Amino acid sequence: MKTDTLLQLFEDYLLDNLPSSKSFHPIFEDALSLMLKAGGKRFRPMLLLSIVDAYEPLLVKNALQVALSIEFLHTYSLIHDDLPAMDNASLRRGFPTLHTKYDETTAILAGDALNTHSFYLLSNAPLSSDIKIELIKSLSSDGGIDGMIIGQACDCYFENTTITLDQLEFLHIHKTAKLIATSLKMGATIANLPLKTQEALYNFGIDLGLLFQIQDDIIDEISSEEEAGKTTSNDSAKNSFVNLLGLNGAKKSADDLSKKCEITLNNFDLNLKNNLQNLLLNYLYRHNK
Ligand code: IPE
Ligand code: IPE
Ligand code: MG
Ligand code: MG
Ligand code: MG
Repeated sequence: MKTDTLLQLFEDYLLDNLPSSKSFHPIFEDALSLMLKAGGKRFRPMLLLSIVDAYEPLLVKNALQVALSIEFLHTYSLIHDDLPAMDNASLRRGFPTLHTKYDETTAILAGDALNTHSFYLLSNAPLSSDIKIELIKSLSSDGGIDGMIIGQACDCYFENTTITLDQLEFLHIHKTAKLIATSLKMGATIANLPLKTQEALYNFGIDLGLLFQIQDDIIDEISSEEEAGKTTSNDSAKNSFVNLLGLNGAKKSADDLSKKCEITLNNFDLNLKNNLQNLLLNYLYRHNK
């Protein structure tokens, strides 16, 4: 399936499956779906769907709910990331952040709801229970204590503090790369690929995720808020790649990692390579655009 077709399938599915919470609360239901409807690149769900489509195209429909669960978890992480206690950002996906549009309480609870609901979606996906247990393990680990959460905790705790290169790598692998790696791995789990292939895809995802975060740090440095659709010039206190390596150093690192990712990609099966290549072209050299 073409990347655009797959993306459209996902967008339609998302619109049909926005979270609802019927109650007398005047704004909570709107708050829940606002950031999901606002858009975003949908990189993580598209990674998962691309793997499934490469090996088991008939399972793409069943995988949509899993792809959506990852997007819910990622969107929750963005809503919380923007809170005053974390990055204190006012713009996200081209819209005012939830705590600026509504209030902090609503933003915290909308994030909490998307987090728990992602596991509701996952456990109700039309797949076998054995596969679903594996998927739940992956998402809860790489999106949780052993992944995104500890990365975010380090990212915020060590603001204005120098950390070692090893610690920097730990921070960014956990904050960003693990959720990206697990999106590929979860696709491989759904397609029932051999464990060795699942592991190879996960390791590729770690490199890809680091590249993604370096490029995100470059965006913070060089893009306007209009271009990025989110608050930029916001990383001055962070252990970002730009702050540690300088802008040119960060670009060089991104280029080196892009080359490494391309070499790995070339060693994958042809159908997988073709499916991922189109998607990755949009992400591998973004800072040069
Ligand atoms: C932003 O993620 C946060 C990072 C981990 C860098 P994305 O750049 O994927 O944000 P959306 O989903 O496109 O809005
Ligand atoms: C956030 O990284 C990563 C998450 C886990 C949400 P950033 O703080 O750099 O993401 P942006 O730049 O605000 O999107
Ligand atoms: Mg942050
Ligand atoms: Mg941020
Ligand atoms: Mg950033």
